[in-house]
Amino acid sequence: TTNRTFTMIKPDAVANGHIGNILAMITNAGFRIVSLKLTQLTVADAQAFYAVHAQRPFYGELVDFMSSGPIVAAILEKENAVADFRTLIGATNPAEAAEGTIRKLYATSMGENAVHGSDSDENAAIEGNFHFSGREQF
Ligand code: CMP
Repeated sequence: TTNRTFTMIKPDAVANGHIGNILAMITNAGFRIVSLKLTQLTVADAQAFYAVHAQRPFYGELVDFMSSGPIVAAILEKENAVADFRTLIGATNPAEAAEGTIRKLYATSMGENAVHGSDSDENAAIEGNFHFSGREQF
């Protein structure tokens, strides 16, 4: 069944000039763009978005990084979108990411790993609605 995922092109990949190449990989893989914008998270936004990680040792670093510069936020639609997008982006740690994945090509480290991908249909909806109003979801 067709469903949706949520992604962010993170501040490292935006700063390094990879927006166009990453969006091309996403659309070439068959994802339809439902919503898309260049934006920046405030510290409070990043704390809320990553609240599930609040007890992790890397939470402060993650919040600082994710609010450090502009990101691209997008909702994507495709058959099996959540799982297929996680395959396209590769492992969280770019050193472990498969050849040809977005993180293998564009991530710099475990923390600065170029892209986010939702881990479930439920979180995809929560994350998409965090960034986009109903009128911005096509
Ligand atoms: P993502 O899976 O998109 O969302 C959680 C993020 O936390 C993850 O990407 C990484 O960017 C970050 N993260 C996970 N593990 C670590 C770690 N050990 N050190 C720093 N950042 C991490």
